[in-house]
Amino acid sequence: MKRIERISKRWLRIFLKGKEHLPVMCKEIVEYLDLEKKDWIADCTLGLGSHSYVILKNYQVKVIGIDKDSETLALAKERLSEFEGRVHYFSEDFKNIDKILEKLGLEKIDGAVFDLGASLYQFSSFERGFSFLREGPLDMRIDRETTLLSAYDLVNNLSEKELDYIFKEYGQEKFHRKIAHSIVEERKDYPIATTLRLAEIVVRACKSKNFRIHPATRVFQALRIVVNQELDSLKLGLNKAISYLSKGSRICVITFHSLEDRIVKDTFKTFQAKRVLKLITTRPLRPSSWEREVNPSCRSAKLRVAERL
Ligand SMILES: C[S@@+](CC[C@H](N)C(=O)[O-])C[C@H]1O[C@@H](n2cnc3c(N)ncnc32)[C@H](O)[C@@H]1O
Repeated sequence: MKRIERISKRWLRIFLKGKEHLPVMCKEIVEYLDLEKKDWIADCTLGLGSHSYVILKNYQVKVIGIDKDSETLALAKERLSEFEGRVHYFSEDFKNIDKILEKLGLEKIDGAVFDLGASLYQFSSFERGFSFLREGPLDMRIDRETTLLSAYDLVNNLSEKELDYIFKEYGQEKFHRKIAHSIVEERKDYPIATTLRLAEIVVRACKSKNFRIHPATRVFQALRIVVNQELDSLKLGLNKAISYLSKGSRICVITFHSLEDRIVKDTFKTFQAKRVLKLITTRPLRPSSWEREVNPSCRSAKLRVAERL
């Protein structure tokens, strides 16, 4: 395995249009992909292209860059412009990777990367409504062109029972019932339209003062998962990507919460039992202490790697 130089803090921390972005486990991803003598790599969550940048700098491969956020994809294009001709961009959901490969006339890929969720850049674009830290509209759609329902629609139209289910199931939120009840009471006066109003309602509903993380974290996670149908996309995307891997090529997946991690773990295990995959990481890898210090928001990241047999 070729060793990649530790990536400097200065390079990692990029600022675009006044917003910050920091990629997660960049060095590990590029090393574990094991790209010597490989040709086509699918970066299924291109984001701002940081993982792809390090891949393209170190190896003569071609990248299929997929992101369902067209604004993010445009920024990645600018950032990766020095690799013109080696990157093919697709503003698509990764669950449609089969259609993308068909368009490119490819029957196999030699590696795949998934770095799930939303980027720090998207979180700090407060007008997108992903963050409970600053005021913004309750939106949370990653793909604003084709996603029909926003977080506003869910919060203001679902029944108490449906909200309760979402917070319990997708947020693993202890106070799911109380929060759902408070939302339904509060929206009687006027619709809950902004991130800070929702966050305040959650904080009041929880009452407890001993929180390790912000009390609204799990509610926002749950709504984002449902708005973007993240878990369904992940199941489909993973299964399809694995089926296109060439012999000896690897898939690397970074997850940020246990619902995603369980899907990756179970999918890898199922393919391992069928002798399609070999697990390279039996336990997930975590960001180094250095990276956690530089980028505290990566603390929940887990990286799993498997190889096609
Ligand atoms: C954590 S960021 C990736 C950051 C990227 N690896 C980098 O270093 O710049 C995740 C990206 O995946 C995109 N994304 C999330 N779900 C997706 C899906 N189902 N299909 C395609 N892109 C998706 C998001 O828009 C976001 O840009």
